[in-house]
Amino acid sequence: SLVILDFGSQYTQLIARRIRQMGYYAEILPYNAKLKDNVKGIILSGSPASVYEKDAPKPDDSIYALNVPILGICYGIQLIAEKFGAGISKAQKREYGYAEIFFEKEDKLFYNINNKNIVWMSHADKIDKLPNGFEVICSTQNSPYAGIRNLDKKIWAIQFHPEVSHTQNGNTILENFVSTICGLKKDWNMGDFLEKTINEIGQEVRDKKVLCAISGGVDSSVLVVLLNKALGDNVIPVFINNGLLRQNEEINVQKAFEKLGIKINYIDASEIFLSKLKKVKDPEKKRKIIGHTFIDVFRDFVSKLSGVEYLAQGTLYPDVIESVSVKGPSDVIKSHHNVGGLPKDLKFKLIEPFRFLFKDEVRQLARQLNLDDAFINRHPFPGPGLAIRIIGEVTKQKLNILRQADAIILEEIKKSGFYDKVWQAFGVLLDLKSVGVMGDKRTYDYAIVVRVVESLDGMTANWVYLPQEFLNTISTRIINEVQRVNRVVLDISNKPPATIEWE
Ligand code: XMP
Repeated sequence: SLVILDFGSQYTQLIARRIRQMGYYAEILPYNAKLKDNVKGIILSGSPASVYEKDAPKPDDSIYALNVPILGICYGIQLIAEKFGAGISKAQKREYGYAEIFFEKEDKLFYNINNKNIVWMSHADKIDKLPNGFEVICSTQNSPYAGIRNLDKKIWAIQFHPEVSHTQNGNTILENFVSTICGLKKDWNMGDFLEKTINEIGQEVRDKKVLCAISGGVDSSVLVVLLNKALGDNVIPVFINNGLLRQNEEINVQKAFEKLGIKINYIDASEIFLSKLKKVKDPEKKRKIIGHTFIDVFRDFVSKLSGVEYLAQGTLYPDVIESVSVKGPSDVIKSHHNVGGLPKDLKFKLIEPFRFLFKDEVRQLARQLNLDDAFINRHPFPGPGLAIRIIGEVTKQKLNILRQADAIILEEIKKSGFYDKVWQAFGVLLDLKSVGVMGDKRTYDYAIVVRVVESLDGMTANWVYLPQEFLNTISTRIINEVQRVNRVVLDISNKPPATIEWE
């Protein structure tokens, strides 16, 4: 396979996704992994570090002895330059943004690409001189050594990022490396993956039972459908209603599975959750209580079952990749809760068929399994649900208000065609009241925040510019239709420094 060594760049996962989308299997390993000789090619990722820093991450020297093609990207070119005897220095000017590259030599990396491409640069260091035995293959105005190669050693390295969409023909460069240079075959597709996985699970589990918690989101739902194909009625899907779901969500989820002929175990635990949340205002406390209560309810359900040996979880690849803490562990911003986080002492054998998949690959699987597009393209919804969209104490009255307002926002955003273009769109209920006037009467009621963001992965996000007409419709409808709301405001903050959810 093709291995991407991860030196901590924010783009590492993107490299793997790009290559997989083209149909080649690529996996990400920590930067210092020792590789076996079944590897067909190696990509060295970028990094926030500088190679001349004291604790700069370096690959294991043995990778250079494998005699397989290596492509260094950004930090990767500096690793290679340093390894082969060239100096690295801080660039006079940080090069960040667009640059035009000029091909200096014909090279397999640039097959099917015309000269003078615009590429995306993001680096503070650059190479001072050419490393021993290397030659220049491309340059930019600022970087005479923007791309280098050593054909004997099968090493290529480029200063720019081919994986980001701002780089013209970036995909072609990656595919040239993977296919023409490394000789990989296109053998990664979701149809084959599905068939193989269904067979494997069938063989492993046989006639034992498998438990699976459903959140209503794409990952756990696709998981249940896949398991159902492999094991029929031996899958036990559980859907816990925590009382913090959106309007009619518990009904819609049950209906969706009914349509697929899958019977789910529905547990209405809303009263338990709401009583535990009584008088709790602190966001982190709310999150912890919801997480613990979920586990209690789940345990209680499990204790009544017998013959269950396995637990299936929709864990995705990004959660599995051993993180390279080049900069040390980052602070806990929010303690996340989702159905994947069940305690280990439940003594089940784990089944995690998606542990090598990215989110977009799970969506492809969903299509293979004939799930509705509307379902596949659903926005993410956090495990703690509306509790983190109601500022302050969660009460039934506030849940009722937010559900109605949120349903209007969703209805209008779908009608307008924005739903499929944005990452998330939802309402937030504030913990304050303000004065208004309705008819001839003074009101003193709640305010709803409209939050609509675009994002690629939830890590960063921008608020979305929405037409005035559209905003006006939402505001008028919410204030007219939802009792106890007299004000609608728009959240115009990006992440960072804000977060997507309010708590
Ligand atoms: P923030 O608010 O941290 O959210 O910018 C980033 C993305 O994560 C979702 N989110 C969660 N998802 N359990 C989840 O499964 C959680 O506890 C949780 N908290 C936030 C959020 O909706 C956004 O898409």
